[in-house]
Amino acid sequence: MHNKAIKQYLECLKLSGIQDIFVKPPIQINKAELLKELEENYHTCTKCALHSGRNKFCYGNGNPDARLLIIGEGPGADEDRIGKVFVGRSGQLLTKMLSAINLSRDEVYITNIVKCRPPGNRNPLPEEKKACLPYLEEQISIIQPEFILMLGKVAAVTLLEIDQTLTAFRQQIYNFRGIKTYVSYHPSALLRNPSWKKLAWIDLQKLQKDYF
Ligand code: URA
Repeated sequence: MHNKAIKQYLECLKLSGIQDIFVKPPIQINKAELLKELEENYHTCTKCALHSGRNKFCYGNGNPDARLLIIGEGPGADEDRIGKVFVGRSGQLLTKMLSAINLSRDEVYITNIVKCRPPGNRNPLPEEKKACLPYLEEQISIIQPEFILMLGKVAAVTLLEIDQTLTAFRQQIYNFRGIKTYVSYHPSALLRNPSWKKLAWIDLQKLQKDYF
C-alpha cells in the first residue's frame, strides 16, 4: 500500500469514528543496511574538534548480527588512514585474542568510544566522548548484542560511569543496559606489557564460557 492510499484509509477510519489504531512495529530490521546508512550520514560529522585532524571516520566493523560487541577507545593512525577499526598492531593482537576463544572477527562487531582519531593517540577528552557517545548508543541498540567486551579503562569508565582501576573492573561482570558486560585489557596495553597477557587470558576464558 502506498503512502497516499494509507493516508486515505486512515482518513476513512477517522470519519467512521475510529480514533486510535495500533501499528505493529516491523519484526525484522536489516541491521547491516541500517548501520551502513547511519555510517554514511555520520562520516562527515563535525560535532567535536577531532574532526579537524581526521582522515577517515571509523564507525565500526564486523557482523551487525553479532552476539558479541567489542568496544575500544578510539582509532589510531592506521585506523584513521584506512577508515576501519582495529586494523593496526593492536587489531592484529585482538584478532589473535578472539581466535584463542574460537571467535573470528567476522562473528563479532567492533567499534570504539570515539570514531575519530585523538591526536597522538591521547585519551579522548570528556567533550569528545560526549559528542560521540550517541553513535555508540545507537549501534548498541541496533545490534542488541548478548555480550559486550570493553577493552581498557577508558571504555569502562566512560560507559559504566565508575571511576576505578582496570584491575577492579576486571573482577566483575556487569549488566550494562541489560547486556552481560566484561572488561579486560586493551590490546595496546598488552603490547606494552606482555606479562599481562595471562591475566587477559583469564578474562577471555570467562567470556568464552558464557558465550558457548
Ligand atoms: N585502539 C583502539 O582503541 N581502537 C582502534 O580502533 C585501534 C586502536
